[in-house]
Amino acid sequence: MAIPFIDLKAQFARLEPAIRRRMDAVLAHGQYIMGPEVRELEEKLAAFAGTRFCLSCSSGTDALLLPLLAWDIKPGDAVLTTAFTFYATAEVIALLGATPVFVDIDPKTFNMDPAGLERAVEALEKKDPSIHPLPAGYEKLTPRAVIPVDLFGLCADYAAIAAVAEKHGLLVLEDGAQAFGGSIEGRRACSYGHAGATSFFPAKPLGAYGDGGAVFTDDEELYARLVSLRVHGQGTGDNKYENVAVGINGRLDSLQAAVLLPKLEAFPLELELRQAAAERYTELLSDVVRTPHVPAGYFSAWAQYTLRTEKREAVIAHLREQGIPTMVYYRIPMHLQPVFNHLGYKTGDLPVCEAASHDVVSLPMHPYIEEPVVRQIADAVRASLA
Ligand SMILES: Cc1ncc(COP(=O)(O)O)c(C=O)c1O
Repeated sequence: MAIPFIDLKAQFARLEPAIRRRMDAVLAHGQYIMGPEVRELEEKLAAFAGTRFCLSCSSGTDALLLPLLAWDIKPGDAVLTTAFTFYATAEVIALLGATPVFVDIDPKTFNMDPAGLERAVEALEKKDPSIHPLPAGYEKLTPRAVIPVDLFGLCADYAAIAAVAEKHGLLVLEDGAQAFGGSIEGRRACSYGHAGATSFFPAKPLGAYGDGGAVFTDDEELYARLVSLRVHGQGTGDNKYENVAVGINGRLDSLQAAVLLPKLEAFPLELELRQAAAERYTELLSDVVRTPHVPAGYFSAWAQYTLRTEKREAVIAHLREQGIPTMVYYRIPMHLQPVFNHLGYKTGDLPVCEAASHDVVSLPMHPYIEEPVVRQIADAVRASLA
């Protein structure tokens, strides 16, 4: 039988009665937009993440866009982020006409290097690209915000990042699209920074059956603005038909909330199962490749199990022959993407990201992967390196 990279069918087989019951309830009441499941889900998600507020929305991309809109991020603003991420993190910055300023990563965790962040902000403030590579037009940029990414399921170093952000008056938006369920010392992903964003894309640790996302915050004022921006910047209360801001149509469907509610119940157990699979991979592979590093006190949501090996292409080819899928996240770091050519970044600007883009490879990972399959995959990786 073919080995899936992520096995959504195995999950559905376990949760089918509960998911169908919830979906049937939506079909019966017919409130497809902002039905009661949406509010129920938001309350449960906020309780899970440990934040005062949760606002569900139509995707992880919109979960990043909405807080930036609420903060009035605009042309002339610099938003600092890591170059080793999915495009959406940088795209939302550019979509608002602001300029992404890319920061390198820590070679062990793949997450934003706080020392690099400090240098990049200093370079912007002093208008001096000799301190840190800066994009074209840096002379006119004002640093406003930072978007650290919790890559592959592991939270970024928020203590160090918050210290830099506070010192320089930056807003922090946690991109927790890959890390919902992860934590540092028990404090969960999406509760860091001034706001956190996650994605319910089907392949994410907590995935819907279509697009979805959520924003988390403790800031009541921000939450009120997000509520308005999610529905075209509408007014509140009796002023629903008054438009007070330029927003988006960014709601989560009731049917997606209905799918997510039973999945959220199963989620703590699924996180443990992912952890067990990751530990097994590491036991079987740490002597032949660089296996993922999880700092003390951190718990990964294991969105991906990502190895580093100079023989990546041989590993990929050998596993493909054995019917084992692999993925490479990410072959091109953000600062070298064609869409950002106009920013003038060049190879060598962010060497740690660039090195990672040449040697990372992710193996099949999901809660229901069985131990013999993990062993089979690990054996195939070992054979490809022999
Ligand atoms: C790091 C990161 N940020 C943002 C997103 C965007 O999420 P979505 O696909 O739900 O829009 C994703 C997921 O694809 C992601 O991995």
